[in-house]
Amino acid sequence: MRRTIGLVLVLLFAVAVAGGWWLFDQGAAAARGPLHPGPEIAELVAAAPGWADGVSAVEATPRERGAYLLAAGGCASCHTADGGDALAGGVALDSPFGTFYAPNITPDAEHGIGGWTFADFERAMRRGRAPDGTAYFPAFPYTAYAAITDADLADLWLAVRAADPSPTPNRPHEVPPPFGWRALLPVWQAVFLEEGTLAFPADVPAAFARGAYLTEALAHCGECHTPRGPLGGLDRTRAFAGGRLGDRTMPAVDAEALADWSVGDIAFMLSIGMLPDGDFVGGDMAKVVENTTGPMTAADREAIAVYLKGLVTR
Ligand code: HEC
Ligand code: HEC
Repeated sequence: MRRTIGLVLVLLFAVAVAGGWWLFDQGAAAARGPLHPGPEIAELVAAAPGWADGVSAVEATPRERGAYLLAAGGCASCHTADGGDALAGGVALDSPFGTFYAPNITPDAEHGIGGWTFADFERAMRRGRAPDGTAYFPAFPYTAYAAITDADLADLWLAVRAADPSPTPNRPHEVPPPFGWRALLPVWQAVFLEEGTLAFPADVPAAFARGAYLTEALAHCGECHTPRGPLGGLDRTRAFAGGRLGDRTMPAVDAEALADWSVGDIAFMLSIGMLPDGDFVGGDMAKVVENTTGPMTAADREAIAVYLKGLVTR
């Protein structure tokens, strides 16, 4: 009897160690690490007229900057439903795990986040936690937003606060167990949520760093274009290599996939959605162009292009 118990304990221990290693591996694949440009980076920057003098600065008040960040963060793509009030939620987000409904984030006291402080907002955006400590589903791309700078987060908060309060009630998510169990999310977050700003090798060009920040932190392009592991975490060892989201196929947009696109081709597509062959992007990407990249400055779209073509991913 004692020997059986001993054997079971040893087996359980072995399973726990193997599971731990596997989770550790998944987490390592999801880590961002320093973002390196390839040797042709100077050429790419030279092809971006908005960065001709090395920098691209926009004069704006904090409120205007906040409105810009709200667009660059693509918040409306999920939080503003067709025909609904701005940021009042309700957009259905299909995923392999079920359907999520983005909530009302207007300052309405009852249905929105009217009672929130900036500290509550910061915790939601950086740590994926509600004011009462419950964990959010990663359908809310806080793993990307965690890298937003302090200054930008403060301006973004001003813009969220400036929305008209809307009495639109939230819709409950339709996500079957086990994926619908919030209690499991802290484990997911421990493996896949990386806090802190982006890291670069010394002397990366400003256009590359700005492009990285827009692509990784704000516009969360990898949420669709980077393949995911079995637990739904991004596999950054294959950043932008394309993948599947449920039954939808996401094209690769890494340097190899975009080899025939110039910086200008990519920036132009991001402005109005037109591909180099004259066709237009559809579906999810049309929404990204409308809500996220279309409203950006030309220099910021070029920075994204420089980053996608310049990033060394493998
Ligand atoms: C890809 C879709 C998506 C995008 C883009 C998105 N969100 Fe969300 N957001 C969600 C979902 C889904 C939830 C609910 C998560 C949950 O219930 O666990 C959420 C929750 C939130 C919450 C918590 C609300 C509450 O009532 O607890 C805040 C605050 C928030 N989002 C702000 C933002 C801001 C600001 C942006 C833009 C910078 C943004 N979101 C972009 C999908 C999105
Ligand atoms: C919500 C998911 C989603 C997000 C977020 C997203 N994309 Fe896309 N993207 C797509 C889909 C789907 C397509 C294919 C559209 C089509 O074929 O009509 C696409 C197409 C593209 C293409 C054209 C690729 C080709 O070979 O035709 C580029 C370039 C691109 N996206 C870049 C970006 C960038 C840059 C961002 C961030 C600013 C981004 N995407 C964010 C889903 C997304």
